Amino acid sequence: MSLKPVKIGICGLGTVGSGTFNVLARNADQVEARAQAALQVVHLGARRDNPACEVGDTRVSRDIFEVARDPEVDILVELIGGTTTARELTEEAIRNGKHVVTANKALIAEFGNEIFALADQHDVAVRYEAAVAGGIPIIKALREGLAGNRIEWLAGIINGTGNFILSEMRDKGRDFADVLAEAQALGYAEADPTFDVEGIDAAHKLVILASLAFGMPLKFSSVYTEGITRLTPQDVEYAEELGYRIKHLGVAKQNGQGVELRVHPTLIPEKRLLANVNGVKNAVLVEGDAVGPTLYYGAGAGAEPTASAVIADLVDLARELAAGQACRVPSLGFSRDSLKDLQVVPMEQVRTPWYLRMEAEDKPGVLSAVASIFSEQGISIEALIQKAPEEGETRVPLIVLTNGAAQGCVDNAVRAIEALDNIAGDIARIRVEVLDG
Ligand code: HSE
Repeated sequence: MSLKPVKIGICGLGTVGSGTFNVLARNADQVEARAQAALQVVHLGARRDNPACEVGDTRVSRDIFEVARDPEVDILVELIGGTTTARELTEEAIRNGKHVVTANKALIAEFGNEIFALADQHDVAVRYEAAVAGGIPIIKALREGLAGNRIEWLAGIINGTGNFILSEMRDKGRDFADVLAEAQALGYAEADPTFDVEGIDAAHKLVILASLAFGMPLKFSSVYTEGITRLTPQDVEYAEELGYRIKHLGVAKQNGQGVELRVHPTLIPEKRLLANVNGVKNAVLVEGDAVGPTLYYGAGAGAEPTASAVIADLVDLARELAAGQACRVPSLGFSRDSLKDLQVVPMEQVRTPWYLRMEAEDKPGVLSAVASIFSEQGISIEALIQKAPEEGETRVPLIVLTNGAAQGCVDNAVRAIEALDNIAGDIARIRVEVLDG
């Protein structure tokens, strides 16, 4: 038996907004059967129309705040992006007693603590499945499917644009700017694409995943964030020679002293599934103490994959509206008073193996001087490649793969090696994640 229809207002009719409107219309029967209520879009807030979306006689307001104040609307879907107006809109909707569904990772990562508290005060829910990894139901997996586990770590490729760029550069030798322009045209990239290539978008998503995994408040400002703009084709090639692929990873790990929260380029053994996630696809590997490793893979961006996640939240909320507040899943999956203020481990103390590439003069004693510095810092060398000099060259590339070492020790070693007369320029360095579950 169908319950009374749930009335939805959507703010933002861009890529995701139009995708959501269209998928809701196309799959209305199936969605209604699952939600046990019709989901009716009754009000759209959009500064302009979108030809990708035939809105018919649905009410449209140019002032999106009219949607937040519309008494008919039960759930407001925030798809405008950004954090200033989006936060005002979300809070206005909450104050007006509306549930909110958002795809806005920046909003949740930076202001989620405040927004969830406000939602609790007003007895409404905020859902954000689409904020992380597009169509992959990773929020639900962490919050519900893995609820019986202590999550030890997770690692993910959580920015489709960055992964698309790295994949195209590796497979087709394409130029960075050219691939980025294609990602923008396909609607994958952020409005400001530096968010994609400098790792900020991935940091937004990582902090959300970490809070869900470990039951801690969102700590966006504590995420170590490094982009992909300094990666070179040589590093891609040498990594392959050593049996690794370079991916832009977000890593969250409990390590006994606290929590590591970091986004950076990473060498991954080429046999790992994550190393073979290509194009705009995302994947998140989660290690739970009971279940072991589980991997979630799919489209991390795009109109309909993201719409798929938005609609999953709408169906959940529709069921919840029918069943009542008592069955509500908390915003971060843990009761508010059980959230732990876990400390974020300083990067100097984070241990990983390292890939280092330097330019060395092809002279006796250089290799041994470099090796002594590693030894003084207690860093063990796992593998080493020295190339023969090119015709007419006196310098050779020297590539070192270390065993696990704290970043502080690697910093010291790098400074000392760069100061050697026979080493030219800066040392390129990339962390390694073995990802063994
Ligand atoms: N710019 C994001 C990405 C879109 O490329 O993954 C989805 O969050």
